[in-house]
Amino acid sequence: MVAPPADAPQMPAWPRSGNDYMRRFRHAGARPAASAGDGPVADLFWTHEGPIAHKWHHYLPLYQRYFAPWRGRPLRMLEIGVSKGGSLALWRKYFGPEATIFGIDIDPACAALDGRDGGVRIGSQDDPAFLDAVVAKMGGLDIVLDDGSHQGAHIRASLDALFPRLSAGGLYFIEDLQTAYWTHFSGRNPRRQGFMRTVAEMIDDLHGWYHPFAANRPATAEGVVGIHIHDSIVVLEKGTRSEPRHSRVGTDPDQGAPA
Ligand SMILES: C[S@@+](CC[C@H](N)C(=O)[O-])C[C@H]1O[C@@H](n2cnc3c(N)ncnc32)[C@H](O)[C@@H]1O
Repeated sequence: MVAPPADAPQMPAWPRSGNDYMRRFRHAGARPAASAGDGPVADLFWTHEGPIAHKWHHYLPLYQRYFAPWRGRPLRMLEIGVSKGGSLALWRKYFGPEATIFGIDIDPACAALDGRDGGVRIGSQDDPAFLDAVVAKMGGLDIVLDDGSHQGAHIRASLDALFPRLSAGGLYFIEDLQTAYWTHFSGRNPRRQGFMRTVAEMIDDLHGWYHPFAANRPATAEGVVGIHIHDSIVVLEKGTRSEPRHSRVGTDPDQGAPA
């Protein structure tokens, strides 16, 4: 466990807004030596010199783990939350010129970034018609990275609109889910209303073969084949679900060959 800096604020009482937590975990120095082996996304991040990109350190090897198979391919990636544009610049460097990369943001100032490292469109992540138009322009969707408002209702609205549009084998990343525990993003009782409740619902849907209850979330119930939970990041894998089967192989000495 790395010790917090001497001047780090005390952990605030829960529930509170995230500002105290963000201050508590801020790293203002150079690249930590421990991140040396974190891979190409980390290398690009720590040597980045363009507009600001803001990432938690532990995300960098996770991006590499999930994104590596798509590198150098003509994938279609949508990032929700452009901000200063540094993240789009990072993805362009990482995925290369073949990739179709788009970002959306509610802030009209982001329109000035359109065409620099990818397409940028202005609108809200909870507007399904807007999202439809963006995906149509992109010609499809292989990776979504939700780093937008972090409001639970917005995350769910984007997921419902975009997950059905994701290609088979596609990935849906939702990051900064520490916000799911903060009242500013997730209501007065985050443990009941925050996005982690939605993740629990999707886990139940993934196991829908084994219980009699209706799907909680029809938009994702059919296509989610894997749910990966990391610190503050959830990755949903899209695929084709088929009813599970099991078999016995080998020989039971008491019964002869398997039936
Ligand atoms: C955390 S920043 C994005 C940081 C960027 N992805 C990066 O890594 O550097 C979040 C962005 O989401 C945008 N945003 C907030 N609410 C939004 C909404 N409803 N729809 C789309 N974008 C939104 C904000 O304007 C802000 O630029």
